[in-house]
Amino acid sequence: MAKVFRLTTAGGKLLLASRIAAGNAGRATFGTYTGNVSKSKVLWATFGAAAASGIGLMYALERSVSASGIELHAQQLPWSHAGVLDSLDYASVRRGYQVYKQVCAACHSMDQIFFRHFTNVFMTEQEAIDEAAEFEIADIDQDTGKPIMRPRKLFDKLPRPYDNDIQAKVANNNALPPDLSWMNRARHGNENYIFYLLTSYCDPPEGITLGEGQAYNPYFAGGVISMAQQLFDDMLEYKDGTPATQSQMAKDVATFLTWVAEPEQDTRKRMFLKAAVLFPLIFGVVLYYKRYFWTTIKSERFIFRTVRGREPPKPPSSQ
Ligand code: HEC
Repeated sequence: MAKVFRLTTAGGKLLLASRIAAGNAGRATFGTYTGNVSKSKVLWATFGAAAASGIGLMYALERSVSASGIELHAQQLPWSHAGVLDSLDYASVRRGYQVYKQVCAACHSMDQIFFRHFTNVFMTEQEAIDEAAEFEIADIDQDTGKPIMRPRKLFDKLPRPYDNDIQAKVANNNALPPDLSWMNRARHGNENYIFYLLTSYCDPPEGITLGEGQAYNPYFAGGVISMAQQLFDDMLEYKDGTPATQSQMAKDVATFLTWVAEPEQDTRKRMFLKAAVLFPLIFGVVLYYKRYFWTTIKSERFIFRTVRGREPPKPPSSQ
């Protein structure tokens, strides 16, 4: 028995070898080598089954957690930024900042945001500089070394309402107003939850008595929340003249908190658009090249025959 030809893909022989293969086989055939196929099929099937059961388990856990509460669940609202290619409404983000500043900032910190983040997003650089200068911060005098208060600058954080958590709790009936930097991402329902939370205060149902400083909100886990209703119609005047209704303010502050939690959201969507256009093209090229590269192996044939008048070569000894 003799092996008649064997083609190799090593280095520069590739092109030559594939030509020979095409010539010899008449056409380049793919998939004639069947040695490992069933093994890989088994592997893929196992992988698929494991992935499917993993996803099933995650889904079941998710359902079991959300089914345990008595609270209402926020519905998906038609946000103008909800689509995969929709940007945030920056007029709304700007109004939302006004709501945060005039209402929420009295109790909630926003430690991850600096004034410089505002520039060229929903404020010009000068507007952000002026905004920062409205708040003071403790610093050290560079000439005398004495502690001073100076106006904030673009590189400073937004001011905190309380110096520390103990002070915050004492002021809020022992409930800690959480930092709002990531609040949008930290709750089920995201911006929908924030909108419903701010607009759904009501009287408690029979059997629930509220303690001091507590209010009832069916969207809050357990229903009894230590934050009283914060938004009331016309409690502030928007600089752009938009009527400041409760739902308008809730929508704007929820949009603002969306931006705060994911300032990169628009960039991410733009990247996705580019990737969605480019990847199919690249995939096509890569697929073509892969088939080109492997064609010699895929179309390789072993022809076994006995040459007349000659003994078949002995198999190599096992030592
Ligand atoms: C008077 C202080 C105060 C103001 C003003 C205030 N909050 Fe709160 N907020 C609280 C406290 C206290 C809690 C904690 C409530 C609890 O854990 O029961 C809280 C909790 C929250 C939560 C978290 C709810 C959850 O699921 O854990 C969100 C979101 C929130 N506030 C948003 C806002 C927004 C938006 C504003 C501005 C419109 C605002 N708050 C204004 C005191 C305040």
